Amino acid sequence: MSMSQDDLKRAVAQAAIAYVPTDCIVGVGTGSTANCFIDELAKIKHKLRGAVASSEASAKRLQGHGIEVVSLNDAGTLPVYVDGADEITRHLHMLKGGGGALTREKIVAAASKKFICLCDASKLVDVLGKFPLPVEVIPMARSYIAREIVKLGGQPKLRDGFTTDNGNIILDVHGLQIMNPVELESILNELPGVVTNGLFARRGADVLLLGKPEGGQTIIL
Ligand code: A5P
Repeated sequence: MSMSQDDLKRAVAQAAIAYVPTDCIVGVGTGSTANCFIDELAKIKHKLRGAVASSEASAKRLQGHGIEVVSLNDAGTLPVYVDGADEITRHLHMLKGGGGALTREKIVAAASKKFICLCDASKLVDVLGKFPLPVEVIPMARSYIAREIVKLGGQPKLRDGFTTDNGNIILDVHGLQIMNPVELESILNELPGVVTNGLFARRGADVLLLGKPEGGQTIIL
């Protein structure tokens, strides 16, 4: 019997626990896969010092399980950061931010030694960009950034009624075929008014745990 997408998320979340050292502060991502990981963390919480959350939503879920949420400023360098992705390549370049938490995710990931990405097979792609690329923008820069994105060949769409945890807006960029994610990540980040974009390529994942429909995981390093 093949596993449902929810079963796959649960299975990779369980497998990720093996990457969490005893007595550490762990970096925790955002989204439905990260939620499964938080639920697994709850089972080993007596072996944890705490967690740094990449969103208010994940912080709430961690606290709901009685796991101490530590601010990144107090935590120092983290041994691991565990998160999902919206798309990932075999080079472990990711497109993230479907949940709008990309900036804090990128910060916590940057402060971590290892990025463990948890995905089901539907997220593995040859070329990033079919999933619209989220760009977090300071509100007053919205129109300017939208015009610059059009020049780069994308079609930006304002994520309606959405404000990030940092008080900014998101432009979701459609129509991109991202052949060079490392370069595009930098080009977008250099535009004044862009806080962060959802390409995680300059610092990609270190380990991908890819859930297989027949059970088990493929591990890509
Ligand atoms: C959140 O901002 C995103 O980067 C998530 O990591 C991504 O959307 C994956 O979410 P799911 O696990 O729900 O697919």
